[in-house]
Amino acid sequence: MNKKIKKIIQKKNKSKIISLTAYSKSIAKILDKYVDIILVGDSLANVLYGHKNTHEISLENIIQHSLSVKKGINKSLFVVDMPKGTYKNAKSALKNAKLIMKKTRCDAVKLESNRRNFKIIEKLVKKKIPVMGHIGYTPQFKKKFKIEGQTRLEINILMKEAKLLEKAGAFSIVCECLSPKAAQIITKKISIPTIGIGSSSYCDGQILVTDDMLGLSGFYPKFVKKYANLNRTIEKAVKEYSRDVKLKKFPTKKNFLNGTKF
Ligand code: KIV
Repeated sequence: MNKKIKKIIQKKNKSKIISLTAYSKSIAKILDKYVDIILVGDSLANVLYGHKNTHEISLENIIQHSLSVKKGINKSLFVVDMPKGTYKNAKSALKNAKLIMKKTRCDAVKLESNRRNFKIIEKLVKKKIPVMGHIGYTPQFKKKFKIEGQTRLEINILMKEAKLLEKAGAFSIVCECLSPKAAQIITKKISIPTIGIGSSSYCDGQILVTDDMLGLSGFYPKFVKKYANLNRTIEKAVKEYSRDVKLKKFPTKKNFLNGTKF
């Protein structure tokens, strides 16, 4: 087993797993110092490309951004999301997962569960492709946002799903928007780590979309803590630049290029 994956699994019940998303080298380089897992998520579609959901991102697109992210990673586990439609059956899943692994040199791929694709995940794992699962609110398969696992029946269904993912060989599971009770029970009952997003502190680790927590995406649901307000910072800088150019305050002689000094 990949040493980095082993380390992530060993963190269960010992220390929290810290994860964030990245779409570029510059961001990945900063995250790498402080996180255990960097995910090139298909949230790339809405966050960066302005699509209304995650469905319109292509395999080529995600590979392109992953190539950039890879350049910024030194130590973190590097996971790449498989876009919608790229793992409809075992054959296409294997072909596309192999392509992602080969081109991006990532450590693992992430697939959303639709409660029917356990065999596909099992096949990938058997072919030595590490898989991170994803349950709860799975944007590739669910049209309407809903907090998952609010009744005993729903918790039992999610539990069964998590167990089947574990059995299929997934090394961890992203739990998106689960009720605290569901997150607590599932985390306790499975032996692989749960990584929560909007799923309380009961999970073994946490993940957020970096652009959300930095205050850049404009999407701030209750489960996101805004650690910065980059929108405001960027606007302030751009406003100042605009004013400087208009008033001929930039560039000054300090910025002129002369001789050989760059
Ligand atoms: O695409 C993504 O950013 C994700 C996170 C919600 C975990 O899957």
